[in-house]
Amino acid sequence: MQAASPRDANALRLREFAFGEEDFQALRALVKSLTGIHLSEQKRELVYGRLTRRLRTLQLRSFAEYRERLKKDAQEVAELCNAITTNLTSFFREPHHFQYLRDHVLAPLAADRDGTRRLRIWSAACSTGEEPYSIAMTVLEALPDAARWDVRILATDLDSEVLHRARRGVYPAERTGNLSAQRLQRFFSDRQEAGGLCRQIVPEVAGLVTFKQLNLIHALPMRGPLDVIFCRNVVIYFDKDTQRELFFRVARLQRPGDLLFLGHSESLFKVCDSYALIGKTIHRRI
Ligand SMILES: C[S@@+](CC[C@H](N)C(=O)[O-])C[C@H]1O[C@@H](n2cnc3c(N)ncnc32)[C@H](O)[C@@H]1O
Repeated sequence: MQAASPRDANALRLREFAFGEEDFQALRALVKSLTGIHLSEQKRELVYGRLTRRLRTLQLRSFAEYRERLKKDAQEVAELCNAITTNLTSFFREPHHFQYLRDHVLAPLAADRDGTRRLRIWSAACSTGEEPYSIAMTVLEALPDAARWDVRILATDLDSEVLHRARRGVYPAERTGNLSAQRLQRFFSDRQEAGGLCRQIVPEVAGLVTFKQLNLIHALPMRGPLDVIFCRNVVIYFDKDTQRELFFRVARLQRPGDLLFLGHSESLFKVCDSYALIGKTIHRRI
């Protein structure tokens, strides 16, 4: 048997669970093939930290046992994906996107009495729902007679756990702290839960949003055209090739003039030339 490398020896000595180089490399490759998420060499601690809870829950003794488990347990594969994804989000995150949506999409639509009353928006990595619900609130504020419009917001994510929370639409009060009193009053109802005061999205907002599980590295099953796509703070976890493949498929869902919003540190530079950059992380389909 080969002697353990110093890094392996260190890992075996100090950790609750044995976590060698082979474990990290195998899990890293599996995560990439399942989710597109590229875990750099620096992500060892993150992988260990996020998966130890799974090992404890399953009462396993090592990452080698965990890898064996993954070979025969599809549910655990889903748990692995849920554990590895980063779900940070908030209501009206990167507010300029919602202002742009209001001023350049919704306001002209509302003003055009003879125009189409159909609007399709996709929140492509919606996490716990704050993003699609913020879109829905923006729509309701900008289209006073929204009920007479054919507006649909599709919200998707790979992570089954965040989708469950998104569908429920109940948030601890502190997560709604950045919302105006007016929005809180119109779009939420208060409810007491074991953890304290929570706020629940009202049916008028929830009714505009449909949640579905969707993996962005697979084929996109929806039919376009999609007027606006929010694909924010997700491709940052993908390598350039995975980004290229994704945006090739995304671009086919949009017509010239349609909009694509990316996250604050994401860009289509050298990734996709089907869009023109028209504002801070705002792209228009060419
Ligand atoms: C940081 S959150 C971004 C949430 C929201 N878009 C925002 O900007 O606030 C990233 C989300 O991408 C999701 N995700 C990661 N890989 C994915 C994939 N291959 N397909 C679909 N969703 C994915 C994660 O589950 C996570 O909820």
